[in-house]
Formats: sequence, structure tokens, C-alpha cells
Amino acid sequence: MEILVTGGAGYIGSHTCLELMENGYDVVVVDDLRNSDLEALRRVEALSGKALAFYNFDVCDQDRLDKVFGAHAINSVIHFAGLKAVGESVGMPLAYYANNLGSTLALAGCMKRHHVRNFIFSSSATVYAQDNRMPLAEGDALGCTNPYGWTKLMCEQILRDLCVAEPVFSVVLLRYFNPIGAHPSGRIGEDPAGIPNNLLPYITQTALGRHARLTVHGNDYDTPDGTGVRDYIHVVDLARGHLKALEYAKRNRGCEAINLGTGRGYSVLEILRAFETVNQVKVPYTIGPRRPGDLAAVYADPQKAGELLGWQAELGIEDMCRDAWNWQRNNPRGYRT
Ligand code: NAD
Ligand code: UFG
Repeated sequence: MEILVTGGAGYIGSHTCLELMENGYDVVVVDDLRNSDLEALRRVEALSGKALAFYNFDVCDQDRLDKVFGAHAINSVIHFAGLKAVGESVGMPLAYYANNLGSTLALAGCMKRHHVRNFIFSSSATVYAQDNRMPLAEGDALGCTNPYGWTKLMCEQILRDLCVAEPVFSVVLLRYFNPIGAHPSGRIGEDPAGIPNNLLPYITQTALGRHARLTVHGNDYDTPDGTGVRDYIHVVDLARGHLKALEYAKRNRGCEAINLGTGRGYSVLEILRAFETVNQVKVPYTIGPRRPGDLAAVYADPQKAGELLGWQAELGIEDMCRDAWNWQRNNPRGYRT
């Protein structure tokens, strides 16, 4: 049974491809490598001992997608391909709307033509409105503050409408919280281009000595130690969640939004301490001002994932910090090492 994975060379996609291949699925990847390296897929093949089919083109290209659907017995689609930087999306909204909506529309149209019904979509906790109480449950108010978030919410709506019009479709909208960590082999992991915006890659690069210190964005939030609290989830747990979502999609029809988070929040200082303790390295830091747009605390109610998918996060913060460092230490320049 072949699964089409768009964006399969990226951070979450590569971990999910590996999990799929280790569990007997055949994988077809479409990725134009705009934010990734083919080396990630070579390593996925080496780790799994299996080959995958790879196509290098833009998922918005319907004609080429049609050919891939014609050439493979695709049963389900996992759609990771997209642009994902919140700050960048504010400066280039049209590129974000064109890519994230365009790729989703192209894929959904192609699936319809080729009678492929199971669609797992990469959504984000960023689709929740800012004034919700924590933890965030799937029925909570939705709303966004930046173009990236709107692309995710609009894609959710497009797919919800598709399921109304075409009741044979089965769509799972997976709302990820904060994916971190890497495969325990240290062979695949997060490889951001340029200076990272996200906390964990900044910490690992600082531990390597590539940055003098981490700036903690604010310590005057209404949280136990004043620093921002997030629901960090190990990328391998997240990948496993996609396999559970695939199984669910095959058994059910319609459209479901499901959080993938642990339900437990950690502050920036808690993460720093855990990272230093588990890895026995020092990460110098300084306290800076709040980062515009950040919330004090964001964490999931993961109950629905437990009930519908039979999934819950198994790996803890020590695993996440250990595996993130193992990857960075072994690949100081990412896949270009
Ligand atoms: P990533 O950038 O590492 O992976 C995305 C992949 O898609 C890259 O390999 C890129 O080259 C490819 N791609 C992008 N647009 C494409 C297109 N039009 N055609 C072909 N390939 C294309 O990102 P990631 O962290 O693995 O995220 C995967 C998905 O999960 C994204 O949709 C992202 O918005 C979503 N998400 C990520 C996070 C996070 O913190 N990493 C959180 C919530 C949601
Ligand atoms: N932080 C720092 N210093 C840094 C980087 C981050 O103190 O150098 C803090 C942030 O202020 C925040 C926490 O670490 O409190 C996590 O920040 P990240 O940038 O790693 O993650 P965010 O929660 O801001 O954003 C992530 C994804 C978004 C997604 C959002 C969904 O990057 O794409 O989760 O909740 F939209």
C-alpha cells in the first residue's frame, strides 16, 4: 500500500517517512527541496533498509501530481509540504497563501480525480484564537494573527467543505503543538536554514558555540517562572501520531481536527535546565524583552487523540533534549556536514 508524503524530505516529513517504512508502508515523496536536503531521504532509506520513490517538483503542479497518482497505487496522502515561518509570512503573505493553499487545492483535486480518499493534513496550534483558556481543545475558538496561521485555518476550512460535498473523503487535520527532538539514531533531525527562530535549534546551536548566548524572550509573563510555556512534543511521537491518523482515516469518513501535543507545558527556563542536565553542556543565556506576538502559555488538551486515534505521547522532555543534542552534535552543519 503506497502512501504519498508531500514535504517528506522536511523535518517532520522525514521522521514520518521512516516510521511508515518501518511499519511496512511503501512511501512516495513529492518535495521540491526548497527547505530541505535530499540527504534526509537517503538516510531514511538507510535507516529503514528500504527504498522510497522520490519526485522533485512543486506540489502545486497538478499535471505532475496527476502523473504520480497514475504511476503509483496511492491509498492515502499525508500533506506536509508548506511554508511555515510565522514572521516571514507577515512580509510575504502572497507566497504563503499561494503555496499553502495552492498545494492543498492541487492535491485534493488530484485525489478526487484518482479516487484517493484519505488525507492527513499538517495543521498547527496556531489556528486557535489567542484568548482561549488553556489547555486548548479542538472545539475551542479559532482565529489567527498572521498569514501563516490563516493559511492553515483556510486549508482546514477547504478540507471540511470538501468532506461535506464528497462524503466518501476522510480527512484528519492534525494540529501540532511544538515539535522538537530528532530520531534517536542522530541521523535525521531538524536542519533550519539561517539563524533559527525556534527555541530548540537555537539552544543546540548555542551549545555548539555557533551563537554566544540564547536570548530568553521575556521573563515577566504570568507563568510560574515568568518565561513562556509551550507544549513540546518529540518529533518521533508526532510521526507515530500520523500512522495512527492514517489507520483512523481508513476506518472512518468525514473531517476531524485532532491536537497532537503532550498536554504538559514547559517554560523556556525549564527546557534550558533539562537540556543542560541531560546533556551535561552549558547554554549561556540572557533575558531579553518579550517577542511580539508571543503568548504566555500554550498547551494542548490531548484527550481526543487518545480517544479517536488511540495515541498519546510517550517520550518525555529528557528524550527530546537528548535526541536534539545527539542530532546537532553529530551533524553540526545539519545535512551539509
Ligand atoms: P519543513 O520545512 O522542514 O518541511 C516542509 C517540506 O515541504 C520541505 O522539505 C520543503 O522543501 C517542502 N515544500 C514546501 N513547499 C513545497 C511545495 N510547494 N512543493 C513541494 N515541496 C514543498 O517543515 P516541517 O517542520 O517538517 O513542517 C511540516 C508541516 O508541518 C508544514 O506544513 C508546517 O506548516 C506544519 N507544522 C510545523 C510545525 C513546526 O513547528 N515544525 C508546527 C505546526 C505545523
Ligand atoms: N524563545 C526564546 N528564545 C528564542 C526562541 C524562542 O525565549 O530564541 C521562546 C519563545 O518566546 C516561546 C518559546 O521559546 O516562549 C517557544 O518558541 P518557538 O519559536 O520555538 O515556538 P512558538 O511556540 O513561538 O511557535 C511554534 C511554531 C509555529 C507555530 C506555533 C504553534 O514555530 O510555527 O508553534 O503554536 F505556529
